[in-house]
Parts: sequence; C-alpha cells; structure tokens
Amino acid sequence: MPIVLGIESSCDETAAALVRADRTILAQRIASQDEAHAPYGGVVPEIAARAHAERLAPLIAATLGDAGIALDGVDAIAATAGPGLIGGVMVGLVTAKALAMASNKPLLAINHLEGHALSPRLADATLAFPYLLLLASGGHCQLLLVEGVGRYRRLATTIDDALGEAFDKTAKILGLGYPGGPAVERLAAEGDPRAVPLPRPLLGSAEPHFSFAGLKSAVLRAKQAMRPPLVVRGCCSGEPVQVAPACPLHTDADIAASFQQAAIDCVIDRTRKAIGVAGPVAALVVAGGVAANRAMRAALETLAHQHGLRFVAPPLPLCTDNAAMIAWAGLERLGQGQEDGLDIAARPRWPLDPDAAPVRGAGVKA
Ligand code: KG4
Ligand code: ZN
Repeated sequence: MPIVLGIESSCDETAAALVRADRTILAQRIASQDEAHAPYGGVVPEIAARAHAERLAPLIAATLGDAGIALDGVDAIAATAGPGLIGGVMVGLVTAKALAMASNKPLLAINHLEGHALSPRLADATLAFPYLLLLASGGHCQLLLVEGVGRYRRLATTIDDALGEAFDKTAKILGLGYPGGPAVERLAAEGDPRAVPLPRPLLGSAEPHFSFAGLKSAVLRAKQAMRPPLVVRGCCSGEPVQVAPACPLHTDADIAASFQQAAIDCVIDRTRKAIGVAGPVAALVVAGGVAANRAMRAALETLAHQHGLRFVAPPLPLCTDNAAMIAWAGLERLGQGQEDGLDIAARPRWPLDPDAAPVRGAGVKA
C-alpha cells in the first residue's frame, strides 16, 4: 500500500508527515515558528524562510525515524508548491525535489489549498465528491464546489480580508498577540456576543462573497472608544471611589465575543446562499485554520442539518497547516497516476479555480 512523505512550509509551520493510502498517519512532526514571529505581531517572510531552511531536513529525518521507515520505503514525495510565502515554499519544494531525485521516486507538487480542500477525506473515508467546501484560513476565505481531485469550482471568495486575517487583526487590536484566532476564541468565551453592535458586511447580498475589512475597522473603533472607569480617592476615607463607570460599558471579552458572532453570522449567511447555488451535494465541509473554531463549527453543523446535508470537519490538528494533508493530496493525485517534473516552479499565487471570474470590488485576493 503506497506511503507518501508530505512536506509543508508555505507559511510559519515547518511540517513533515508520512501517510499511507489506507489513511493511516504513520508519523508527523510540526515545528511551529510562533515564538520567532510573535514580537512582530505577524509572520515575517524572511524569518520564516530561514527557519524552514534550518529545520526542515532534520524534521524529515526525525519523521522517518518515528515511523521506522527509510526513504526507500516511501513511494512518493509530496510538497506544497504554492500558494504562500515564496521563500518558505521554495525551501520545501527544493527539498522534495532533492529527495525525489536521490531516491528515484515520483514528485508531487501540491497546491496548499488543495491540501486543505481534500483534508476532510483523509479524516473521513466516506466523504465522496461532490461536496461544498468552506475554506477559511489566514490567507483565504472561499466557498468551493469540490467535484473531484483537481476539479474545483469557486462559488465565492472574499473581496478584501481573509477570515483568519480578520481574527488575527482583532487579536492584534485587543493586544492578544500572535497567532490570533485561538486567542480570540478563548477570550470570546468570557464575553457577551450582543454587547458591541458590529456590522455584518454583505449580509443578504445576492452572490455568496465575503467581506471582513469593515468588521475589522468596527472592532478597532469599539476598542478605541473604551475608557477605564474614573476612580478618585474618597476625601474622608481615602479609599478609592468610582465616580464614573467604564465607557462604553463593554470589555475586551465583549468585543471578542461580538466580533466572533458577527463573523459567524456572515459565514452562515454566505454559506446558506452558496448551498442554494451549488447544485446537489452530499455534504457541507469546512477546512483551513478557522475550521478549528468550535463556535464556527457548531453554527455550520446546524446550517448543514437544516439543509439535510452531512457536516464534515477534520479534527482540529488537521484544520491548521500540517503536512499530513499535503501527503494525503499527494496520495489522491498519485492514485490518479499523476506526478510532476523536477522542473516545476514554486508559485506565490495559485488559485484552485483559475477560471473563476474576478469579483467586483475585490483587490488582489480575488
Ligand atoms: O490554514 P492555516 O493554519 O494557515 C493558512 O494557510 O493561512 O490558518 C491559519 C489561520 C490564522 O489566521 C489563525 O488565526 C486562524 O487560522 N485560526 C483560527 C483558530 N485557529 C486558527 N481562527 C479562529 N479560531 C480558531 N480557533
Ligand atoms: Zn493553510
């Protein structure tokens, strides 16, 4: 049964995994660079590329060691070839080419988004094509009709920020550090989702596209409007006395909860619209880093069931960037007799549906 070595290095996770065609993850390792990027509040491409270059080879050796497999025992090498931060992508792809050349094994240059898009099939053997996919990560927010391996029809995309980016920027505004999504989710659990009135951009609009820039700006205004309570020392007792309440009466947790609820409301409305135009599908599927958000998953599951669809979401470690999904996409393509030449180029941009029409109002991320 074929075994594929997967390599992921398109952003700030250096990852390697060995996956067998029966969906067994034989071994996987992820080296996070969170600490290196945290002082800058986001991923610094140059730091990321250098970290991948230092860590990747030993990480692959350790992953092979964990599974007790030599390179000879691997049937193909799959690596992310884009889209992503080009320095890191090149480190992973060139490493994969060298391993493929040295071991005389096929190379599979994987679209990172395809890795996310097919990851639910790694987790769930019963998930058949076609399915409607919400792909929500730090760089993308798309609704795709997944018709088969390599066959994706984009029904919607964001006209400005990605959903994960909106979580990360909200985290930055609230001083929660990087990476932001999990921190916003944690704080939101302590707040009131109705406390801060925030906009729901594009809610109800005819096409299922997304927009999050206005929501992010509203979060900034809500934070800037906050004043601490006015406290003075009592003239007789000398004890602190609050003479004016905090203004307005919301906390950071309320902002986080209200932001998360607004984001969920947008996603549910847009996904409902997409269900209406997708044609017959068996399942609603969510993938990408934001799929790790429990409140988002719960809302999507309810929506799916309202429409008589199965809901499939990969387990949390398969939602955020990992190499098992890259190895799995490699296995899917290998199963179709595909492989790539050693001259294949790394691509900073690589849409899953190159025929998708540009979206009115969209910037470069369309
Ligand atoms: O797929 P991913 O790991 O990397 C990209 O391909 O971008 O997604 C990372 C994004 C980040 O923006 C991160 O803040 C977001 O996913 N994210 C979350 C959660 N966990 C990760 N957003 C909301 N809630 C979470 N629990
Ligand atoms: Zn990703």
